[in-house]
Amino acid sequence: MNKKTFLSGIQPTNIPHIGNYFGAIKNWVSSQGGSGETALDSYYFLADLHAITVRQNPTEFERQVLDCFALFLAVGLDPELSALFVQSHVPEHTELSWILSCYAQFGELSRMTQFKDKSANQKEGEVNIGLFSYPVLQAADILIYQADFVPVGKDQKQHLELARNIAVRFNQAHGETFKLPAPYNNITQNTAKIMSLSEPTKKMSKSDANPHATVLLLDDKDTVVKKFKRAVTDSEAKVEYRENDPAKAGINNLMTIYGAVCDKSMPEIEAEFGGKGYGDFKTAVGEAVADMLLPIQTAYNRIRTDRAYIESCMKNGAAKASAAARKTLIDVKGKVGFLVVDN
Ligand code: TYM
Repeated sequence: MNKKTFLSGIQPTNIPHIGNYFGAIKNWVSSQGGSGETALDSYYFLADLHAITVRQNPTEFERQVLDCFALFLAVGLDPELSALFVQSHVPEHTELSWILSCYAQFGELSRMTQFKDKSANQKEGEVNIGLFSYPVLQAADILIYQADFVPVGKDQKQHLELARNIAVRFNQAHGETFKLPAPYNNITQNTAKIMSLSEPTKKMSKSDANPHATVLLLDDKDTVVKKFKRAVTDSEAKVEYRENDPAKAGINNLMTIYGAVCDKSMPEIEAEFGGKGYGDFKTAVGEAVADMLLPIQTAYNRIRTDRAYIESCMKNGAAKASAAARKTLIDVKGKVGFLVVDN
C-alpha cells in the first residue's frame, strides 16, 4: 500500500487568522485519519525556528507557542491521528537544513518573493541570514518526512517549488533519497488566498498594522461582525462574483469566505443575496464566521488552562516526528559520506 504523508507548519507569531485557517489549517484537520487504502501519516507543527527570523519578545514568544498549540487542538487537530509538534523540539530539522543549504543556490534564494518583500521593509543592517536561508529550513521541514502533500496557501507555493528543486538536485547527486512534495489546496473553495478586509487586493496578513484588515480565530462575535461590517467593497451594491475583476476584489473575498464557512457555491450565494444590499450580506458573513469560531473558542478556553496536557501532547508529537525524521537524516548523512563511528 502506498501510504501518503501530509505535512505543514505555521509560524506561532500571534493568533492565526481566518486566512491561515481557510488557506491551510482547515485542510490539515480534514486530511487526518483515513484507514485501509486511504490511511495516511500527517505532521503539523509550529514553525518557531522560522519565527525568530524576526525579533521576538522571549516571554511573549513562549506564551504564543502555548496559545497556538492549544488552538491546534481546539480546531480539531488530533494528537492521536497526527504528529503535532513544535519545530525546535525536533532538532533533526536544523541538522538537515545545514546539509541542504549546501545544495541550495544563492541566486534562487535571492529570487524568493517573501525574502525580497520582507527584506525591502527592513534597513540593510537588519536583514539577517536566517531570513535569507529560511526557505532551506522549510525544505528540510518538508523533505525530512518524505511528504507527498503540503497543505498551504498560495503564498507558500514558491517555497515549495524550491523544496522540490533542492530534492531533485540531491537525488541527482546521490540517488533517490527524497520524495517530491506537491502543494495541496481545497480547489473547490478557492481559499488559497484570503484577502485583507481593508485592502482587498492585498492578502490577509498577521503583520498588517490595521487591526480591521484581519479576523483572528479568537476574535469575539462582536469584533468579528464589526470587522466584516467595515470591510471594503465597491459601489455597485451587487453580490456577484467576478473573478479577475479588481473592482470586485472585496466582494469576491467576502463571497469566498462565506462559501467556505457555509459550504456554498458562488451561484448559490448570488441567488441567496439577489436584490439584497451589501449591508445584509456583510452581516450574514460576519455572523456565519463568528458562529463557526465559537466552538473553536470554547474548546480553546478549556484546553489553554491545562498546560500539562498541552506539554504532554507536544512531547508525544515531537517523539513521533523525531522517529520519522531520524530515518531520513541517517540516510542523507550516509549518502553524503559522513564518517560514522560507534560510540
Ligand atoms: P505562515 O505562518 O505565514 O502561514 C501559515 C499558513 O497559512 C497560509 N496563509 C494563507 N492562506 C490563505 N490566505 C491568506 N491570506 C494566508 N496567509 C497565510 C500560508 O500559506 C501557510 O500555509 N513558511 C511558512 C511556515 C512553514 C511551513 C513549513 C509551511 C515553515 N515550514 C513547511 C509548510 C511546510 C509560513 O510562514 O506560514
